[in-house]
Amino acid sequence: MVTTQDKLQVKIGNLELKNPVILASGTCGFGSEIKDFADTGKLGGIVTKTITLTKREGNPPPRVFETTGGLLNSIGLDNDGFKNFVFEKVSGLEKLRTTVIASIAGNTVGEFVKLVTGLSGIPVVGAIELNLSCPNVIHKGTRFNLLSQDEKAVKKIISKLRGITQKTLIAKLSPNVTDIKKIARAAETAGIDAISLINTYPGLAADIHTMKPRLGGVTGGLSGPAIKPLALKCVWDVYRSVGVPIIGAGGIMTWEDAVEFMICGAAVVQVGTANFVNPKAPFEITEGIKKYMKAKKIKSVKDIVGTLKA
Ligand SMILES: Cc1cc2nc3c(=O)[nH]c(=O)nc-3n(C[C@H](O)[C@H](O)[C@H](O)COP(=O)(O)O)c2cc1C
Repeated sequence: MVTTQDKLQVKIGNLELKNPVILASGTCGFGSEIKDFADTGKLGGIVTKTITLTKREGNPPPRVFETTGGLLNSIGLDNDGFKNFVFEKVSGLEKLRTTVIASIAGNTVGEFVKLVTGLSGIPVVGAIELNLSCPNVIHKGTRFNLLSQDEKAVKKIISKLRGITQKTLIAKLSPNVTDIKKIARAAETAGIDAISLINTYPGLAADIHTMKPRLGGVTGGLSGPAIKPLALKCVWDVYRSVGVPIIGAGGIMTWEDAVEFMICGAAVVQVGTANFVNPKAPFEITEGIKKYMKAKKIKSVKDIVGTLKA
């Protein structure tokens, strides 16, 4: 007998998710933001805040600013580093009863290697999401400032990391590129298990009275409903270019948004900014997807993926 649970199951790499709705990096801490009032066991998974090898203070305040239909943030990867993650956070993650995806970023190839090696030995970590919106650690000084803008660098770093871990590896891409399809194909060739997109769009907001930027870091990343159509295009473009599953994100606030991402090619969806507006959003999204499937007599959530009639 096929249960509701089976209908919602999704596989990425060697990882089985109980449903396709997961929390996006940087918007749920280490599960801390929701675990006290919601049953995290009902989530498909959570992606941790990006972890770096050593502690980072992050950018000066203010770090967030609300814009029309979106949120600008300039957190600057503030986190307490890998050792703190191991000693302070891992036990909490074990209590969440959902799949944990660790997000990481490095300043050097060696840092990436140390992080992936360390995380590979932690059973509660089901997968590793490489936040490639970090400085180009392979080809320093090229015109490509970010790793995720340089397809050769993406290939090199993923090939290296693929060789040292059995864990499911996910590449999270920035939309701030000329052709996201090329970057996605480079990641696939190097052996990535899934592609996560998108990270935030670069943006700026200014106060017309003080002439000061709204963010301490001057520029920041734009997320939320304002970027949804842009994110959907990235998902659709990449869906037609690679064979690995896509994890879609960018302005998903409701179950209708989530289904739209799936139709355009996302096998899994990440909910980010919505968590700050309505922390119950990911749970409501999962329930909404279930009702949609029932109404449309869809047997498996996989049958929705890439069904855009274009
Ligand atoms: C406050 C804030 C912090 C974020 N921090 C991270 C981070 O540490 N690592 C990362 O890969 N993405 C980070 N993101 C990006 C989100 O994970 C997500 O890719 C992006 O916000 C688009 O989804 P959304 O529109 O649903 O928020 C952050 C986003 C926000 C709003």
